[in-house]
Amino acid sequence: MDSAMMLEARGVSKFFGGVKAVDEVSIGVREGSIHAVIGPNGAGKTTFFNTLSGFYFPDSGRVTYRGSEITRLANWKRIVLGMGRTFQTPSVFAELTVRENVMLGVRARAGVAFRLRPPAGEERETLEHRVDELLGFVNLGRSKERLVAELSHGGQRLCEIAMSLSTEPSLVLLDEPMAGLAETETDRIITVIRDLRQRLGLTVLFVEHNMRVVLSLAERITVLDRGKVLAEGTPSEIAANEIVRDAYLGKEALDHV
Ligand SMILES: Nc1ncnc2c1ncn2[C@@H]1O[C@H](COP(=O)(O)OP(=O)(O)O)[C@@H](O)[C@H]1O
Ligand SMILES: [Mg+2]
Repeated sequence: MDSAMMLEARGVSKFFGGVKAVDEVSIGVREGSIHAVIGPNGAGKTTFFNTLSGFYFPDSGRVTYRGSEITRLANWKRIVLGMGRTFQTPSVFAELTVRENVMLGVRARAGVAFRLRPPAGEERETLEHRVDELLGFVNLGRSKERLVAELSHGGQRLCEIAMSLSTEPSLVLLDEPMAGLAETETDRIITVIRDLRQRLGLTVLFVEHNMRVVLSLAERITVLDRGKVLAEGTPSEIAANEIVRDAYLGKEALDHV
């Protein structure tokens, strides 16, 4: 396997009864890159992500992370190795504050989540500092004491990204980070995803529907359709790909590229 590849899948398949949700999919995510997975609803994007994160094990195929096989490694062990993820449906706790949500992740990382007593003074300060750092990174510092339920969808998404960073990942998997967001909110998330790579040096693999976002953010795009890889390439290659244009994207979405 290529050492510059941070995450590789080879011939990964996942069935649900008779439905072949993911059908022999291969992908190579280069270290330090922003890589997008696109495709119509039901193409198998979320299921494929789930086989990468260990939420599901594939029925066949192989997944490696930094050259080590992780195909059947437990989800939490992948997190320890440096893989972080957010889910398509928000997984923040709406009735807790922004600070409390991120603190959950930070405490789990510090290994104090299941202790009976709260952390001692100095340790507590370190954890609070880390929470502030993460919230500052996603520009949520000012909303720290607000309930997540009171935030905009975009704010909730940013909180979720901050939580996923609390495990100190090297690679983040984001499943439709812009789903349901207004255009203005989309820009906040785009900035944060760019920063993940530029300021934190992370590798990002994300699923996205919004073509403007994908074409402006990703360096490499994999197109899934009915469980299979339809095409893979740079944004301009994908935009120019006749099969992709005809089968799925439609000319309009790509004409400004
Ligand atoms: N847990 C499940 N049980 C049964 N079928 C599923 C399950 N999850 C996904 N599918 C099916 O697998 C296919 C791919 O779904 P999904 O991965 O969610 O696609 P996408 O994220 O690209 O919209 C769809 O036909 C969907 O109905
Ligand atoms: Mg999906």
